[in-house]
Amino acid sequence: MAWLEKVVECHGDLVAFPMPKTPVLLVNTPAGARHVLQRNHRNYTKATIQYGALSLVTGSGLLTSDGEVWRRHRRTLQPAFHHGGLDEVAASTVVAGEQLRTAWDQAPPYAPIDAEAAIMRAMLTVVGKTLFADDLSSAGSDLVHAVDRALRQVIARATNPLAAGPLSRLPTLSARRMRSAVSTLDQVTADIVARRRAQGIRPEDADLLAVLLRAAGDPTDPGEVSDHHSSGAGSRQPGPMASDQSDDAPPAPSSASPWMTEQEIRDELVTLVIAGHETVASSLVWTLHLLAESPDIQQRLYDELDSVLHGRAPEWKDIPSLTYTRAVVDEALRLYPPAWVITRRSAGPDTVDGVDVPEGTLIIVSPWLLHRSERNWPDAQRFEPSRFLDAAPGHGDRHPAYLPFGAGPRLCIGRDFALVESVLLLATLLRDRAVRRPAGTPSPAVEALVTLRPKHGMPLSLIPRIPR
Ligand code: HEM
Repeated sequence: MAWLEKVVECHGDLVAFPMPKTPVLLVNTPAGARHVLQRNHRNYTKATIQYGALSLVTGSGLLTSDGEVWRRHRRTLQPAFHHGGLDEVAASTVVAGEQLRTAWDQAPPYAPIDAEAAIMRAMLTVVGKTLFADDLSSAGSDLVHAVDRALRQVIARATNPLAAGPLSRLPTLSARRMRSAVSTLDQVTADIVARRRAQGIRPEDADLLAVLLRAAGDPTDPGEVSDHHSSGAGSRQPGPMASDQSDDAPPAPSSASPWMTEQEIRDELVTLVIAGHETVASSLVWTLHLLAESPDIQQRLYDELDSVLHGRAPEWKDIPSLTYTRAVVDEALRLYPPAWVITRRSAGPDTVDGVDVPEGTLIIVSPWLLHRSERNWPDAQRFEPSRFLDAAPGHGDRHPAYLPFGAGPRLCIGRDFALVESVLLLATLLRDRAVRRPAGTPSPAVEALVTLRPKHGMPLSLIPRIPR
């Protein structure tokens, strides 16, 4: 990440790297980034080193696939992410938040715990409950470690051409670690699928796993009309967090004709376990860090939580009133975008912001750079949530240089889930507590892995406070 900052500092916002085989273009203008991700997205694929390395773990899931496979899967999965499911996300998040408070309570008074490890596990349970109707807590630590091990290998391969080349097939320690992590993920996802099949699928079940198993031809429970478009997944309606999610995918094949294979189900489950918990956890950890460093902003957040909640646990219905809490989340996503780099490969020649792009060019767009550039954001390095209180076009989360969830048809499918989780987890934790970094601990360094992680964990204390 530091080297990208250096490159932009020395060479400007559109930098072509003179690589012998593959032309590489770093695109650091809002217009250029949106051209690649949104306006001319049809010319760009995910056949990049980043996604190639990730697919060693996720297979051909939604995040890494392209073309017809992606379109079919996105259409199938989309209903499981509609807004009708957000109240379940909200309820599961508050339960996970209460469990997190207990973890802090079990530490000696005011003692820190590693917020990163605890929040990772908490967000994994939310993914399990809301997407798979499954309690992942028994697999919790193993799964978190397997994901962590696998993603560290992904980064090693994405950043080291030798590790990704023929040498990757040698039985090195790194290859063995990767295999063992992937086999844990295979086992956990196979167990999830087996448990769900044993439960049976009712026509009204709208969780993602029910949607996938229907696509694989699993029958719904007998005696019911199988019409998930009217009574199950398809009944989920748009709600108050409506976003500009759009995709140009054609309708999915009818659930009557099975078309999704067991491998495809495995790949989507692994994709969603990874994409669904680590990103949100990363964002929440950095949000708590920023709050711990900013007493004034913390106070303004407490004023809102106190006036909306009066010390009680938050609920789904409170979200529209928690506008400053949401601004805190948005601003933390600006300064610490978990998906800090997005890559594409050009399928044909193009011109991006006046620069010629030959076919096969690797394009790098970095939300980290765009979000921290003084050309895009006044006083860019400062944590100032109030910049997100203005919802006018071109401001707040509609700012052209704001891309924490990507843009265009490949916009994050879990965006609204993530925002509900983040707002409610913060409100649950901080409704009557203050967050503090323990005296004498250094400010955490950022490690840019698949997401942004604190290099040595994130020790934080939650101190009781009395709500007004
Ligand atoms: C795609 C960020 C939460 C599932 C993306 C992309 C970004 C992103 C930037 C686009 C990547 C690209 O264009 O190459 C984030 C952030 C999150 C978050 C910052 C949390 C703060 C989630 C959650 C889920 C999820 C909660 C699932 C439960 C996915 C999937 C894709 C995706 C499946 C691929 C979508 C497609 O290409 O059709 N995410 N994400 N994400 N995200 Fe998220």
